Amino acid sequence: MKSFRLQLRFLVPLVLILAVAAYLALPLMDRLNLRWFARDLNMRGALVTNALSESIADALPEPRGRKLQALFNRALQDERLVAIGLCSTQGKLVRTTPNFPKDLSCARAEQIAAEPDPLLRIGGGPVHVGVHPVNAEAGRMGDLVLLQDLSFIERRSQDTRQYLIILIGSLGAVIALATVIVAQLSWRGWVSGTRALLRGEGLIRPLSGTAPELAPLAADLRARLRELEDEYRRSQGPEADWNPERLQSLLRTQFSGDQVIVVSNREPYIHERSGTGIVARRPASGLVTAVEPVMRACSGTWIAHGSGSADRDVVDSHDRVALPPGHSEYLLRRLWLTAEEEKGYYFGFANEGMWPLCHVAHVRPVFRESDWECYRAVNRRFADAVVQEARSEDPVVLVQDYHFALLPAMVREKLPRATILTFWHIPWPNPESFGICPWRREILQGMLGSTILGFHTRFHCKNFIETVDRYLEARIEHEHSTISFQGVSTFVESYPISIEWPTESETRHWLPVAESRRRVFERLHIPPGQRLAVGVDRFDYTKGILERVHAVERMLEKYPEWVGRFTLVQVAAPSRGELEEYRAFRERITQVTERINQRFSAPGGPVIRLLVEHYDHEAVNELYRAADVCLVTSLHDGMNLVCKEFVAARDDERGVLILSRFAGAARELPEALIVNPYHVEETADALHRALTMPEAEQRERMASLRTTVREFNVYRWAGRMLADAGRWRLRERIAARVQRHQTS
Ligand code: F6P
Repeated sequence: MKSFRLQLRFLVPLVLILAVAAYLALPLMDRLNLRWFARDLNMRGALVTNALSESIADALPEPRGRKLQALFNRALQDERLVAIGLCSTQGKLVRTTPNFPKDLSCARAEQIAAEPDPLLRIGGGPVHVGVHPVNAEAGRMGDLVLLQDLSFIERRSQDTRQYLIILIGSLGAVIALATVIVAQLSWRGWVSGTRALLRGEGLIRPLSGTAPELAPLAADLRARLRELEDEYRRSQGPEADWNPERLQSLLRTQFSGDQVIVVSNREPYIHERSGTGIVARRPASGLVTAVEPVMRACSGTWIAHGSGSADRDVVDSHDRVALPPGHSEYLLRRLWLTAEEEKGYYFGFANEGMWPLCHVAHVRPVFRESDWECYRAVNRRFADAVVQEARSEDPVVLVQDYHFALLPAMVREKLPRATILTFWHIPWPNPESFGICPWRREILQGMLGSTILGFHTRFHCKNFIETVDRYLEARIEHEHSTISFQGVSTFVESYPISIEWPTESETRHWLPVAESRRRVFERLHIPPGQRLAVGVDRFDYTKGILERVHAVERMLEKYPEWVGRFTLVQVAAPSRGELEEYRAFRERITQVTERINQRFSAPGGPVIRLLVEHYDHEAVNELYRAADVCLVTSLHDGMNLVCKEFVAARDDERGVLILSRFAGAARELPEALIVNPYHVEETADALHRALTMPEAEQRERMASLRTTVREFNVYRWAGRMLADAGRWRLRERIAARVQRHQTS
């Protein structure tokens, strides 16, 4: 309908133009005809006069003029000749045929003959007037006035007019028809081409070949698309609420509800045998804390290592179990590793090699050839599991962490159209540090199978790009933060990870802060009135636990008024206990803690309570709500979610966060007391300051921290990554098609 209206807009002016053309052309045609015929008749008249000249010269001397009359009568037998008159050399009419007009003198005839249209009307019909000299042997005898019938011209003109009208009409019809057909085809082509372009399918039309007319538009369209995206992004704004529903709707709109597959080493729930039967417990893992709520929102399949003692007891014949327990919102597919595989891939290459390599925490990385082989083989096993679980050729695969650096390229090999988002949960070191890894090239190549590669901070992205630049022959576009390697483009971006902001249905069950405090103090036998600081970590050398207890010692030295009035509760979830480095670290902390406790022993009980056990989410939350201070003193940390959990727990807007400047979170949470954990004095002072901070200042800082964490929650983290992946997928498609189009 729209195209028909457009065509009418063209056809109506066309008809009008043709009508005007016909209106102007026909009289012009008549006049041209007349002139052509007048010229012919002039020539004809000259010929007739020449033929008659000698005869006229003979007949003229005869006084009665009979001979001349007879001559003229014979000449008049030519049906075109209407009348003849003979003018003397003095311009007098000496002889005429009967129908020669009475009022036509020789002078007048000469005047008419000299005009461009030498016409005279006799009896309503047009007559051509020609005056031709009669030249005989004896000299000039006078002029012959020949009047020739021109009415045949009018008849011919009529015919010509008809032909012309038919010609213009037919021409108009042909042009109109051709226009309609071309317009229809072009319109459809443009519409489908433009739609395809906007959908990202580019300039190629499968049925009708290429649409070159769209090529110049492609760049403009893409630019406009980017502007619209930016506008959209701005309109959404950081303040816009990210929640499970928004994430789901993003998946529906950008990925048409495509399947989401998560791959991580750590599983979201570990099933273990206990005295009362099988229990499902959430592991102490920032990765699980962040990814689990996203998975609940997206459904899909999570592939992870089944490491619990009862994990095999609860899976079906495909090694799958629906989670969370009792809700079945997504599937966990468990992969079983042999003790050898776990030793080489997880403890060995991942945690003795990559972990210290990336954390630069003064623990030497260990790289063994056998661990590397294991790491490669296990990556291959998980990649195969992804391919098995994929229900389409372009699933969205979320690869988690340093355990799977090789997996993105392995999946890409089998599922070239998959959207692979790899998130690196730990820091990325500078090229020099990374260069000590013997398999640096293989690791980088594996990671560059990803569509998007995410780090917590811009600084880690920069380190990664520089590392690629140093060790691979890849094309890097710094402006767009992209790396093209072996035909795959990877977008490198920072996505600060976060937590799920507690929902109202959750907070409703929280005990008041005072009650939480009372319960914690009672359970841990801390005398009421004490000031309480908490630390909650995996028992890991990167967490700065040693520096933390040293800072407590220093504070008590420096500010002795706190002795007997202060307690640090340090929860340290056992982690990677098979590794010597971790065992030694645990021993060291235990010894130092005992020493400090002895040194500052007071009636209030030990100053440091080291709880080497797993605390579940509720217990940790209660501890956060009971505390005056939360200490996060990582020596190097990708993000650290403990600090965000503490902030989320404090709906009373009290409590002070002390945060290491070497944790990614420090960039987002400047209202915390930021410290250098290596500088024990500084941390000790910060602790004293936190314990003496007025309530108004606590509230001000905490309110601001809470706004940030609420807004920059984990759905935003996942949403931004997925939205970028959607856009990236679109751009890639457009670019590929434009390129194909240009080379075709
Ligand atoms: O920080 C890296 C990380 O993988 C986190 O994502 C997670 O919190 C932690 O290590 C868990 O370690 P593991 O799975 O070895 O216990």
